[in-house]
Amino acid sequence: MRKKIVAGNWKMNTTVPEGVELAKAVVAESGSVPADVKLIVATPFTHLYPVAEAIKGSRVALSAENCADKEKGAYTGEVSAAMLASVGCQYTILGHSERRQYYGETDAKLVDKTRLALACGLDVILCVGENLEEREAGRHFEVCETQIKNVLYNFSEEDMKHIVIAYEPVWAIGTGKTATAEQAEEIHAFIRKTVAEKFGEAVAEETTILYGGSCKPSNAKELFAQKDIDGGLIGGAALKAADFIGIALSF
Ligand code: PGA
Repeated sequence: MRKKIVAGNWKMNTTVPEGVELAKAVVAESGSVPADVKLIVATPFTHLYPVAEAIKGSRVALSAENCADKEKGAYTGEVSAAMLASVGCQYTILGHSERRQYYGETDAKLVDKTRLALACGLDVILCVGENLEEREAGRHFEVCETQIKNVLYNFSEEDMKHIVIAYEPVWAIGTGKTATAEQAEEIHAFIRKTVAEKFGEAVAEETTILYGGSCKPSNAKELFAQKDIDGGLIGGAALKAADFIGIALSF
């Protein structure tokens, strides 16, 4: 049985005290969520250590939103995978569309980042997804397939046990527009097939594929009911503990 995951991507939101408060509220409400649903909070770098302290001993896991593509050294302003592991991160998001779009994240860099993250014992939440223009041109399958091939096909079956895929249609992120459950399922199934082509059916069946893009308590149930949707990567709705937990209760 593959893992069900609900991960909150806080992006560049909250001060440290606000973030600690949010993390504590998530922990406080987490008891109502079925035990087989993994809860993750992904926070800005500055928040990781205090949030790690705030969630210590709880069922909530900690993730970063990015990591460096270099191991260590003279890379001013960067944060390495080893640093993330040392503050208690278990996961890092990589390849979020905002990083691809605004910070020049390429598939080649994502291979390096993924390799370093896995080597430091982190699990990776790798984001893929098409933008509006690509969707309207009917190129969404091709875009996701290319991103998966360029990054994941460099890794092993063993590595895949530590990689979660997040399908995030860029046109649905922070826009209030959600892919319909059918649109999302169609592409999730396609992503799983793309994983199977390289790693085989068994690995593909075990790979968790999350939906991200204006997922909220009101639409999560329909999305999570789909065969190939194993949870969500949640942006805006993760900034309110009640909404985040509401989504996690939607399986
Ligand atoms: P959103 O963001 O839920 O605010 O659309 C999702 C994401 O970018 O991870």
